[in-house]
Amino acid sequence: MCGIVGVLGNHEAAPILVEALKRLEYRGYDSAGIATVNNGRLDRRRAVGKLVNLSDLLVHEPLPGKVGIGHTRWATHGAATLGNAHPHVSGPVAVVHNGIIENFRELREELATNGLRCETDTDTEIVALLARHYMDQGLPPREAARRTIHRLRGAFALLFLFEGEDDLLIAARQGSPLAIGHGQGEMFVGSDAIALAPLTDRITYLEEGDHAFITRSGVEIFDAQDQPVTREPVKVSIDAARIEKGGYKHFMAKEIAEQPVVLADALRHYVPGERLNLPETLDFSSLDRLTLVACGTAFYACQIAKYWFETLAALPCEVDIASEFRYREPPLPQRSFAIFVSQSGETADTLAALRYCRGRVARVISVVNVETSTMARESDLALPIMAGPEVGVASTKAFTCQLAVLFLMALKAGLDRGTIDQDRLRQLLDSLNRLPGLMNQAIGSESEIARIAESVAEAQDVLFLGRGAMFPLAMEGALKLKEISYIHAEGYASGELKHGPIALIDKTVPVIVLAPRDRLFDKTVSNMQEVMARHGKVVLITDREGENAAADGTWRSLVMPEVAPELAPILYAVPAQLLAYHAAVAKGTDVDQPRNLAKSVTVE
Ligand code: F6R
Repeated sequence: MCGIVGVLGNHEAAPILVEALKRLEYRGYDSAGIATVNNGRLDRRRAVGKLVNLSDLLVHEPLPGKVGIGHTRWATHGAATLGNAHPHVSGPVAVVHNGIIENFRELREELATNGLRCETDTDTEIVALLARHYMDQGLPPREAARRTIHRLRGAFALLFLFEGEDDLLIAARQGSPLAIGHGQGEMFVGSDAIALAPLTDRITYLEEGDHAFITRSGVEIFDAQDQPVTREPVKVSIDAARIEKGGYKHFMAKEIAEQPVVLADALRHYVPGERLNLPETLDFSSLDRLTLVACGTAFYACQIAKYWFETLAALPCEVDIASEFRYREPPLPQRSFAIFVSQSGETADTLAALRYCRGRVARVISVVNVETSTMARESDLALPIMAGPEVGVASTKAFTCQLAVLFLMALKAGLDRGTIDQDRLRQLLDSLNRLPGLMNQAIGSESEIARIAESVAEAQDVLFLGRGAMFPLAMEGALKLKEISYIHAEGYASGELKHGPIALIDKTVPVIVLAPRDRLFDKTVSNMQEVMARHGKVVLITDREGENAAADGTWRSLVMPEVAPELAPILYAVPAQLLAYHAAVAKGTDVDQPRNLAKSVTVE
């Protein structure tokens, strides 16, 4: 979390920094700040809250200078106050930081004995203080920064700027990603390549433990042992236009609407000409088990995939939340694959879980949206989901694209293990190829969903129910609703309701029932009747036949197109997302940047 940027340019840095921070605001929006050096003089501007507050401040109090650093904050240590906003400055040093300095308390005490006191509640300030301490002892900026970096424990990405240095930025990476952009006589730094997309497409990724001295003429990179190393720049194609709202009121609305297109793109890549295009090395035939690990929405995608791997490929499957998995030290069979699913490819817990699995399983596979991410680079095999940049904090198109790729992997597993034949494969691929069209139809129900959402928005609590693979989707629907509308919501397995949660039902509680007409439909309908008998307000989301069979007595019902039962979780994600979106719009919450959240969770 937190986004950091740096510019060493030939133009005024402040507007470039603010523009780049805009593209990083998804990482946090508790405060924003920039610092520049102008004719040797270091100065900064900071503002609490969204980036727009910093932009406003800069109108009245401009900050000249062609070299600068910037930060958008997701608070970890210390409240979202001006004092805690980055950049942190001590004497001649300014620092922006993403991550957590774990030993900041020890260092704070040590420096206090040298008369250097912290003035903020952050862990970051210690970095500026420490570098200043070394400079007070007569060390030049490069050596002071290097010494400082070696004293820090934890996961961090850092950028240093120094008074009197118009041509120097120092960057360091340990656990949090950092990209260096190469321009024409200019250099840039960003938490990711998206931040730098309109500035350059030539990117050098720092590796774990690296630090870099950056000047306008280039970059010198050193590894954790201070040895000079070469990290080849790569050409990164990020279509900057895909990070604009394109006429939509919110990124989330745009990203929901984009799903048929991005899914079709992904299918063109993975299923060219009715053929399954997955690497041969992805051979599931002799496996005893799969382990799937992720966080949040990506975790629900894994839970849905478990149904696919088990039913289509008879492959036992364990699914875990990364923050639990990583400290559980689970024994893993060698004849197994570990699959990590992550939109960003940077989530700290998922990355740690991935690293735990290396060497313990036959193959470490990541399913990521950001192909250049750390997870992709550290996996034996990375499968891109091809959703394009996702900016809305609530994941939508990444979720459905994750599902599509996991489904294709389950098909490959079924083929490898002889549990599905070519006919069945063709049938399922055919259904999959029809999915983008069906999603379009589902999006066509948006105004109807918006009307239902307006009523749901008045509730205090909402339950989502589903059976089979619709159960994890129920949890995902509840997560979407709570994170952007702040309405308390829970997802349950329909059959589990009477074991406790049914006590919550009364006439004020909307219950969203996700029930395509599959082999479990009648059972789900029975559970729905139990809710209605207790005056719960049922919103039944089903297909035409399901509506004819079961909509009597429901509060609202919504018809989705017919879909192959295996693929219903992907299609029914659309109404769940739209319901959350319109409930949030009705409540007037901040849809794209909901409170307390950030998109890329690079701290544990
Ligand atoms: C919810 C959401 C989060 C993420 C989670 C994992 O809408 O977006 O729950 O799914 O933080 O993030 P990634 O997929 O980047 O690892």
